[in-house]
Amino acid sequence: MQRTYIKDLEAHKGETVTIAGWIDVRRDQGKLIFLDFRDMTGYVQGVVLPAKTDEQKATAAIASTVRSEWVVEVTGKINVRPEKNVQKDKQNGSIELEILSMKVLNEAQTPPIDVRSEGKEIGEESRLKYRYLDLRRPRLQKNIRNRHAVNMFVRNWLTKEGFTEIETPMLTKSTPEGARDYLVPSRLDNGKFYALPQSPQQYKQLLMAAGFEKYFQLARCMRDEDTRGDRQPEFTQLDLEMSFVEREDVIALNEKLLIDLVKSVTPHKKIQEIPFPRFTYKEAMEKYGSDKPDIRADKNDPDLLAFCWIVDFPFFEKTDSGAWTFSHNPFSSPKPEHMEWLMKGENIGEILTTQYDIALNGFEIGGGSIRNHVPTALIQVLKTLGHTEEKIRENFGHMLDAFASGTPPHGGIAWGMDRLMAILQNEPNIREVIAFAKTGEGRDLMMKSPSEVSAAQLIELGLKINKA
Ligand code: AMO
Repeated sequence: MQRTYIKDLEAHKGETVTIAGWIDVRRDQGKLIFLDFRDMTGYVQGVVLPAKTDEQKATAAIASTVRSEWVVEVTGKINVRPEKNVQKDKQNGSIELEILSMKVLNEAQTPPIDVRSEGKEIGEESRLKYRYLDLRRPRLQKNIRNRHAVNMFVRNWLTKEGFTEIETPMLTKSTPEGARDYLVPSRLDNGKFYALPQSPQQYKQLLMAAGFEKYFQLARCMRDEDTRGDRQPEFTQLDLEMSFVEREDVIALNEKLLIDLVKSVTPHKKIQEIPFPRFTYKEAMEKYGSDKPDIRADKNDPDLLAFCWIVDFPFFEKTDSGAWTFSHNPFSSPKPEHMEWLMKGENIGEILTTQYDIALNGFEIGGGSIRNHVPTALIQVLKTLGHTEEKIRENFGHMLDAFASGTPPHGGIAWGMDRLMAILQNEPNIREVIAFAKTGEGRDLMMKSPSEVSAAQLIELGLKINKA
């Protein structure tokens, strides 16, 4: 079959072509049967004219049996619509496909959910259970395709800037990002577990030790935390790290990337203020009561993007039990002027970190820092967090050894790609921009996961289930 994509039909006026796709809508008007077709490139209206020849009668018979969502191959002539029937704002509005023959490639049951509407009226459980159908709706098709456009833009932009995309392991060891780990039991080493990465934080720093200097990755991250509108148990970061940089270098590069991205991929959006305004954590809390303030001048303008940076976060916070924990990332460096306090163990609560977060329209869409690449200073942070010398060696020995082997000063950031996409697509939550999202309880209703495993698998892994 020489297939013509629906988007290209207008260039073939008067010709006979073959298309393949889905029946979007079927309208039987007795003498005439109208069929709207859809493929990945768009929509076109087709018509079966009253049948005279046997061949036409056979085509009309097929056309009267097909239903929405059936998959068909259609050969037809592209007729130009009379002026009064032209639909100016519609794709292929100036043509109509006169259906000459049609082959059914696959039938479809009546879909359990409407796939042509915006989908907002349908319960989310059904949408997630039948996600392969839900994804057919134009809104979701657009979200997922635009996500690809953003990924490609970012990949190309960073590549031009000299960055290398490097994949890091999924089966790894716990890295402290402040959430619970997802664990994977080891078959060969019963009783031991891998952790799925909460972020590639340690690996990207080790890539700086390895001399790559500029790394990025569209990284899948897994965190076992309570799900909500802007959180999923697995999500994607644009993760990057650079050597020989200071805070201003990382901020400048990311700001330029975001501005170029918006201009190129969503040119109808306006950025409220360039350069992005910057607040200290203290200022943001005092002025807006939030460390991810929504500073939009007009919160009803769907095309307004108000980015801002938040800097100067406290490094340490007190837990309920009175111990110190890190506010963002234990691998961050304190601000240079507070290094002395850290090393002497003084004024712990007042030490500020080099951490910077970026907020957009009230959501934290990214965060990063300049790292602590001096082994003695990292040990001091970990000791402040209550780790013993022995635990530090056991859990972070590889980092300390790397830092003692000629690691340049470095820093980076990670963007929450799902959050950024949701805002760019004007979606209320990140599930709308994730192809196969999970429910609020972390379930995949389509695959039915998590699920029980066989007794044999448990034995092999040396596990016994003790249901709570
Ligand atoms: P952080 O933990 O701040 O930093 O994560 C970076 C960004 O990832 C997004 N994010 C999430 N998105 C969806 N679902 C989640 N559960 C979720 N958790 C986080 C947020 C956040 O700003 N390694 C550091 C980065 C660094 O220092 O370079 C890190 O992961 O938008």
